[in-house]
Amino acid sequence: MPVVAVIGAQWGDEGKGHIVDILAERARLVIRYGGGNNAGHTVVNRQGTFKLHIVPSGVFDPATVNIIGSGVVVDPAVLLREIADLETRGISTTRLFISDRAHVIMPYHVMQDQLDEAARGEAKIGTTGRGIGPAYADKMTRIGIRMGDLLHEETLLRRLRQALDVKNRLLTTLYGAQPLSLHETFLKYLEYGSKLDRHVTDVHPIVQRALEKDMPILLEGAQGALLDIDHGTYPYVTSSPPGAAGACQGSGIAPSYLTSVIGVCKAYTTRVGEGPFPTEVDGATADTLRQIGTPWAEVGTTTGRLRRVGWFDAVMMRYAARLNGIDTLAITKLDVLDTLPRIKICVGYRRNDTELDYPPANNAVLSQVEPIYEELPGWQTPTTAVRSFDRLPAEARAYVARVCELVGVRLGMVSIGPAHDQIIEVNRVI
Ligand code: GDP
Ligand code: IMO
Ligand code: MG
Repeated sequence: MPVVAVIGAQWGDEGKGHIVDILAERARLVIRYGGGNNAGHTVVNRQGTFKLHIVPSGVFDPATVNIIGSGVVVDPAVLLREIADLETRGISTTRLFISDRAHVIMPYHVMQDQLDEAARGEAKIGTTGRGIGPAYADKMTRIGIRMGDLLHEETLLRRLRQALDVKNRLLTTLYGAQPLSLHETFLKYLEYGSKLDRHVTDVHPIVQRALEKDMPILLEGAQGALLDIDHGTYPYVTSSPPGAAGACQGSGIAPSYLTSVIGVCKAYTTRVGEGPFPTEVDGATADTLRQIGTPWAEVGTTTGRLRRVGWFDAVMMRYAARLNGIDTLAITKLDVLDTLPRIKICVGYRRNDTELDYPPANNAVLSQVEPIYEELPGWQTPTTAVRSFDRLPAEARAYVARVCELVGVRLGMVSIGPAHDQIIEVNRVI
């Protein structure tokens, strides 16, 4: 039975929430496997418009079990607010489980993230300021606190004392900030633990039982392949592996179980935060791509920052597809291109007299490459009401086909609007 990873194939915000919400009714488990509340996944369906940061986008399907995997870093205050908001709006969270192995974002992580960014000045990364990097760093240096620890008074006190011993020295000496009180922090996180008690569990048996029973499973990615800690545009990346390998690691599912990897990409490209972006545009084309004034304008779901926009970059996408074994593309926001008379696709990079067909690791070099564009005619017809591939304008079909050809991956779906039914499915993997 299918075990399908739905991963962001660009720099995040590709529309993963939309695609997972559509596919969730075919799955028994939806597992969010990485990132934290740096993510913002928009779901527009019969129940309303939702901006999810930590809860998996399968939560709207009443028959689906939703899991926050061990690869996620959880800010309990944010999660509790998200759960309360969903419940108030009539969405049940009784089938939401949080791995007791997932790490907790602590207040010092948020402070550290923001103080580090301020200290970087011009060299800032443009993080979301949610404490993501420091939380993953502490996980690796083994002074992290896990969700399961919040349920055990003695463990929490011991782990927090060890962590604060280090963190308070760092906060006061290096950053000149106020130290955090062990007592107050302990009581606050113990309370979070008791409020989340019914959700926090060892998810290993749930996941293994689902695999044994051949239940269809969706692994929901956050961020995107080009923000990957190893393969992204380092250091302008996030601090986790958002791709297919991270999907296995962060959900506790062995790679051999994966039956498909869906790469979600926009029909163009966006990026929030700093870092190289070869196909970035400004001016009138950027205004069109940003769709300001619409509910799906290119404004960050989490931070409200204006997203940088540019043409579709087939070089980056091919790189992302190869690294992650993407076998199926879900191309979103095709409708955003509806009014353009001509549309560009970047098919290669030129540097001096050399052509590159994958992004170089050196950001200084990547920032200087000249994109080689191919220009295709636009369709200048609304596509938002179209529901079958054959009914798309011929130019739109040609554009999508060319994108798939250049990336070297078959088409799975095209989305032509943010709503639950604004999807054209060509190949099913689940
Ligand atoms: P995610 O982080 O990958 O889940 O994506 P975000 O939710 O941050 O950003 C995607 C934005 O595009 C949201 O505002 C969605 O509602 C919107 N969206 C998704 N698919 C489509 C589409 O096909 N057309 C349009 N116009 N908007 C879409
Ligand atoms: P979703 O899941 C877009 C970007 C930040 C910044 C960099 C590092 O909604 O696609 P971090 O706070 O993670 O240390 O920031 O990564 N970033 C995202 N950009 N969508 C996201 O998530 C992102 N999560 C992180 O803007 O450039
Ligand atoms: Mg997003």
